Amino acid sequence: MSNATYSIDQVCRLTGLEASEIRFYEAVFRDFLTFTQMGLDANRFNDDHVQILSHIRELIHTHGRSIDDVKKELRQVFQTKGASAAARAQVHRARVISVTSGKGGVGKTTLVCNLALALARRGKRVGIFDADLGLANCHILLGIKPQFNLSHLIEDGFRLEDIVCEGPEGIRVISGGQGVRELANLTDSQRRALLREMDRLEREVDVLLIDTGAGISENVLRFAAFADEVIVVTTANIAATADAFSIIKILLEMDPAAKIGLVANEVKNMYHAKNVFHRINACAEKHLDYGLGDLGHILADENVKVANQLRQPLVLSCPQSPAAQCIESIVDTILSEDVFRNHKKPSCFAELIGAIKRNMAGVSA
Ligand SMILES: Nc1ncnc2c1ncn2[C@@H]1O[C@H](COP(=O)(O)OP(=O)(O)OP(=O)(O)O)[C@@H](O)[C@H]1O
Ligand SMILES: [Mg+2]
Repeated sequence: MSNATYSIDQVCRLTGLEASEIRFYEAVFRDFLTFTQMGLDANRFNDDHVQILSHIRELIHTHGRSIDDVKKELRQVFQTKGASAAARAQVHRARVISVTSGKGGVGKTTLVCNLALALARRGKRVGIFDADLGLANCHILLGIKPQFNLSHLIEDGFRLEDIVCEGPEGIRVISGGQGVRELANLTDSQRRALLREMDRLEREVDVLLIDTGAGISENVLRFAAFADEVIVVTTANIAATADAFSIIKILLEMDPAAKIGLVANEVKNMYHAKNVFHRINACAEKHLDYGLGDLGHILADENVKVANQLRQPLVLSCPQSPAAQCIESIVDTILSEDVFRNHKKPSCFAELIGAIKRNMAGVSA
């Protein structure tokens, strides 16, 4: 969180509120807006104020909540002891999980799509951000056709709801398209618009999965580094495991606190999977002093190929198949609090985009 301060005009642009609305909410929600060192009387607003005003706007304007309801919710949020003001305002943020690999074609997109659907079937609100610029994108496997992508949001001022495409089980898919490349060169107003939209998405989903594409490309690293947790997918193939180790090494160099878990895909059986895990984990322990999370495996299963070809996601079209059962076990592990949860890092996709911009501008994030 920066020490920046904002005039009321700037706050209008950042929150989408009118000045009169801001003054009104200031008066009504005064208890919640004067908590920082800076009093509102100073006539300047800081990041915390902006964040809370955005949250209030979201609850009232988008969800039609009453002033009393909002006060009740804010009171609950603020009772969370020990958390910073910003963290308290972020209580409802999504868990951001990035899925990546060293080598291509190891099953990332298959995992992202089926994971999303399996999570949705368990009642989670799920979003997919498809940051893969390759051909076999998430929408193809999900059998949907998004008309618009991130470029339309960045370039043409589209709103998030215009570019979000609804998939099976109500999952929300955002196609990065060429917009993923444009993230590196946003103007300030484009970035603010994007931040606002992403912030809204984060409040509307519980889990946001990012399909990053493969290799040590800028996209893979920037998305993986800023997610809460990273799933590295590999097959048993020697080249794939070597590349998995390389990407883990780079991720840890970028962020020593990263939470990284491994999924062994297309394995023959559990022993085969354990062998793959132990091979990579032993290297990580020895050379990087890091223990990987064992998130499980997916059996090699012809049903996967058929489902992908028919564009009928496996967990829906063939839920009893061996691979679909494996994906359900992976979901169990991901949802278990202890195994694969980064408690250190507050989830914030918006911060991710902000950090990208700062990184690209050469200023330390
Ligand atoms: N468990 C599995 N059993 C059998 N085939 C699989 C399995 N997982 C993935 N596949 C097949 O492997 C191929 C690659 O899968 P997928 O497109 O998901 O990989 P990817 O890592 O996203 O690739 P890319 O790096 O090109 O984005 C597909 O043909 C898919 O059907
Ligand atoms: Mg893919």
